[in-house]
Amino acid sequence: MTFGRYPAGGLAFPHRDLLGIAQLERHEILYLLDEAEPWVDLNRQPSKHSDTLAGLTIINAFFENSTRTLLSFEIAGKRLGADVVNMHAAQSSVKKGETLIDTAITLNAMRADAIVIRHGSSGAVDLIASKVDCPVLNAGDGSHEHPTQALLDALALRHALRERGEAAEDFTGLVITICGDILHSRVARSNILCLQALGASVRLCAPPALMPAGVETIGAEPFHDFDAALEGADVVMMLRLQNERMQGQFIPSAREYHHLYGLTLERLKRAAPDALVMHPGPMNRGVEIDSEVADMLDRSIITRQVEMGVAIRMSCLDILTRRTRGVEGWT
Ligand code: CP
Repeated sequence: MTFGRYPAGGLAFPHRDLLGIAQLERHEILYLLDEAEPWVDLNRQPSKHSDTLAGLTIINAFFENSTRTLLSFEIAGKRLGADVVNMHAAQSSVKKGETLIDTAITLNAMRADAIVIRHGSSGAVDLIASKVDCPVLNAGDGSHEHPTQALLDALALRHALRERGEAAEDFTGLVITICGDILHSRVARSNILCLQALGASVRLCAPPALMPAGVETIGAEPFHDFDAALEGADVVMMLRLQNERMQGQFIPSAREYHHLYGLTLERLKRAAPDALVMHPGPMNRGVEIDSEVADMLDRSIITRQVEMGVAIRMSCLDILTRRTRGVEGWT
C-alpha cells in the first residue's frame, strides 16, 4: 500500500545499503513502512511463502548475541524465498584472529546478495559495507544505530494507532517518552531520528550518568525525573540498561534504578489515559519495567513490535535487492 508520494522506481529508495536512519529522508522511511504492509498481511496467512528473492543468498553475520533481530531476519529472508545462512561470530574464524575486514572480504567472495550485520563496535557495519559489493543492512552496531528496530517500532505504533481509529499517516502531535540507558542505546538513537522525522515530539529520560550531552541540539527534550517525563505522554518506550557496554558503575543498584526509573502501573497513570507502552526487548522485568505493565493487553504493544520486525525486514530485503534482481525502474 503506497500513497503515491514517492519518486518513481529506484528513486524512492536510492541507497544501496541500510546503515542508519540518519541517512534516510522522511519519504524514504515512509516508503520502507508502506512497502512492509503487504508483508504484514502475508505473515498473517497460514501460508507465508513468496518467491520474491528466489535464488538469492543472504548472509546474517552476527558478532553479538541476538534473539529477535537474528531470527526475524532469517524468517524474513526465508519467507521471501532466499537462501539464508547465519554466521555466529562465536563459532567463526573471528575466534582464530581473523580481522573484520578479512571476514568481510571472505563473505563478499561467496557472492552473497545481501549481508546483514550486527557488531559490538559503532561504525563496524559501515566499514564492512565499504568492502563488499552487495547491499549491507545494519542489524545494530555498538551504541550507534539499529535502523530496522526503529522502523519496526514505527510500523507497530502505526498499526496500534490505526486499530484505535487514529488513522494518521505520521506521528505529528504525538509525545513519545523514551526512558532508560539513552547513553549506550542504538535503539534510542535510531528511534529519536525516526520518530522526529515522522513528526513526533521526543522526550528522553535517564539518570544523569546515562544521558548523552547535548540531546537538546537534536531536538529532544531531556529529563532526569521520570514522573515529569511521563506527564501526558502518548507513548512510553522503555529501554534496558546496556550493561555489556558499561565500563564502571553507572547506577547505584538495580533496585534503586527501578525505584526512580522503572515503569510501574502507578507511574504509568501520569501518562495520557490510553498511553501505549513499548520496549524493543530483551526486557529486564522488575528493573526498567514491571510485568503488570509489560503484559497489559490493551496498552502494551511489545509483542506487536516483534511481529512487525519480520515484515519490516522483508520490506528492507525486498527493496535493497531490487537492483540486483533487475526490477523494472530499479536498474
Ligand atoms: N531488539 C533487539 O535488537 O533484540 P535482540 O537483541 O534480541 O535482537
